[in-house]
Amino acid sequence: MKILVTGKTGQLGYDLYELLKDKEDVVAAGREEFDVTDIDSTHKFIKEYLPDIIIHCAAYTKVDDCEKNIDLAYNVNALGAGNIASICSDINAKMVYISTDYVFDGSKNIPYTEFDTPNPLNTYGRSKLAGENIVKEILDKHYIVRTSWLYGINGNNFVKTMLRLSKERNMLKVVNDQHGTPTFTRDLAEGLYFLIKTDAYGTYHMTNSGETTWFEFAKKIFEIANININVEPITTEEYNAPALRPKYSVLSNYVLKLRFNYELRNWKEGLKSYLKFSV
Ligand SMILES: NC(=O)c1ccc[n+]([C@@H]2O[C@H](COP(=O)([O-])OP(=O)(O)OC[C@H]3O[C@@H](n4cnc5c(N)ncnc54)[C@H](OP(=O)(O)O)[C@@H]3O)[C@@H](O)[C@H]2O)c1
Repeated sequence: MKILVTGKTGQLGYDLYELLKDKEDVVAAGREEFDVTDIDSTHKFIKEYLPDIIIHCAAYTKVDDCEKNIDLAYNVNALGAGNIASICSDINAKMVYISTDYVFDGSKNIPYTEFDTPNPLNTYGRSKLAGENIVKEILDKHYIVRTSWLYGINGNNFVKTMLRLSKERNMLKVVNDQHGTPTFTRDLAEGLYFLIKTDAYGTYHMTNSGETTWFEFAKKIFEIANININVEPITTEEYNAPALRPKYSVLSNYVLKLRFNYELRNWKEGLKSYLKFSV
């Protein structure tokens, strides 16, 4: 299988490439190879490599900045994904579009399945949902894979931020009224590798299992890393971030379970192995 991974300098793109490089014919591309908003250079690169599948991990992921840079968010997350999908259609390749739990509004208090209706609260979520819809319109052979709260070996994430702040401060305040599932990008990469070997196209939720809040997640990071620090719970309103976020965005990996009885391990297990790599 010839695989092209976009977003190679990001968390998921990096871990996917690391997983696949010894198993398949894989090339990873970053912005230096092509900017997804530039259809000509994107076309040129992809048509030279002629992949069987593109796993599209590149995205504008700065949730708060998306509120200021709305055009950029739609250009990268929606139209950029559309560019990739149309090239896939030309060369008869499959595509994986990575999407997000932030397509949901958080008004439920049980896990969202693939059969629930999205209703994003912020620009990032709206632009990612637009990307899902464009990919679906252009290309039949697509997998839309929604995931959540990623942390990986490469790039910045909540775990690295907590570890850094613990060296700079005696006390941390962390939001305790947003519920979700932290997901280790290596575990997600394994799940994606499993999925692309099936021809079962469609929409999937793929996260580590279980659920938590950012506050409980922070406490677990410090417990596993043996760091003694005072962590205080605060509300979303107290934290006052520019972008609205769903209070509850746990994803039930329902279709994966129904179709393949496939499940990713619990988020606490994922976190333990991540901290072994990175601390
Ligand atoms: N992070 C999360 O918690 C989370 C949660 C749910 C879903 N997701 C989704 O999961 C996927 C992977 O996320 P991630 O955390 O690995 O992302 P990330 O670490 O922020 O990496 C994003 C990647 O996209 C590249 N990129 C951005 N704009 C580009 C453009 N115009 N052209 C080409 N490349 C561009 C970046 O390149 P540069 O390094 O050059 O900027 C980087 O390689 C994304 O689709 C994201 O929406 C993420």
